Amino acid sequence: MGFSDKVESLIGELERASAKSQDEAEQFRIKYLGSKGVFKELFNEFKQVSSEEKRQFGKQLNQLKSKAEAKVEHWKHSLKSEEKQASKIDLTRPGMLVEPGAKHPISIIKDEIIDIFHAIGFSVAEGPEIEDDWHNFSALNFPPEHPARDMQDTFFIKDPNGGEDYVLRTHTSSVQVRTMENNQPPIRIIAPGRVFRNEAVSARSHCIFHQIEGLYIDKGVTFADMKQTLEYFAKSFFGKSKIRLRPSYFPFTEPSAEMDVYWGLENELDYRITKGTGWLEVMGCGMVDPAVLDSCGIDPEVYSGFAFGMGLERSAMQRFQIPDIRMIFENDVRFLKQFQSAI
Ligand code: DAH
Repeated sequence: MGFSDKVESLIGELERASAKSQDEAEQFRIKYLGSKGVFKELFNEFKQVSSEEKRQFGKQLNQLKSKAEAKVEHWKHSLKSEEKQASKIDLTRPGMLVEPGAKHPISIIKDEIIDIFHAIGFSVAEGPEIEDDWHNFSALNFPPEHPARDMQDTFFIKDPNGGEDYVLRTHTSSVQVRTMENNQPPIRIIAPGRVFRNEAVSARSHCIFHQIEGLYIDKGVTFADMKQTLEYFAKSFFGKSKIRLRPSYFPFTEPSAEMDVYWGLENELDYRITKGTGWLEVMGCGMVDPAVLDSCGIDPEVYSGFAFGMGLERSAMQRFQIPDIRMIFENDVRFLKQFQSAI
């Protein structure tokens, strides 16, 4: 191989050379730049070439050598810092901070109520949010054209093919119907869920909210049982032991009542919460109307029971001093974060 060919192939080799470790870099250095290396050999040969070739290759050879030296220098440096980096990982350092999630305020209230009723033998029942007229209204003693249907501003879902129309359930009472249709007494359930009403959204009311329904059906269940159960609830949930039942009207209960708890009037907040009366409206309730039992396949001659239903938003707003109901649905993290400690 002539001198020029050797220089030519050296250029290619240097171009392709790479090192993945300090060792490989050192091997490269020895092979090319060592005292018996390729450059040494070439420079020795260089002394014997013609002056014509000396002119041609002298500068090039020097440049190639500096290039190879720079390569070695670069590898050693970068590989060293890489290896140093790897050995620098300190396994005793604290991990990255993972922020704990927070329960939504509605879930906090809901779970608490579930626990309270679970302790006295109630289990949780669920039903669909898109409901048919029968389960939301008719079976609950709202006949067609009954004015009580107007008490609840309903979102209707029209079937474009002319089939049955549906509604977004306006209350969780629909779950009562489904439970009674599919089970014989004794029945003890609570049904938490989302409900929908076609109402203007404001700081105080929303078109979406949550309710918890309760239902207890067995032989010989009386109004006194209802009162006792609701007293137990008021005590467990609000820490208040005085309640009152005011006569009211719901199509599916007879008699019907509104339950209030005596909240007290000790400070300004009490005045605000109770509108100056000391009493807090908590829920609707009553003895299940025999017509409803009948509609759902339960013999009203044998069984009786009570039902109740309450909204969750108001309790959550009171408990956590949430000034605007819309915050509950916006899911702004700055809002949600504040409940981390409330779990
Ligand atoms: N469904 C009623 C409402 O949406 C609440 C209610 C009242 C439920 C009385 C009941 C009940 O089970 O007995 O306002």
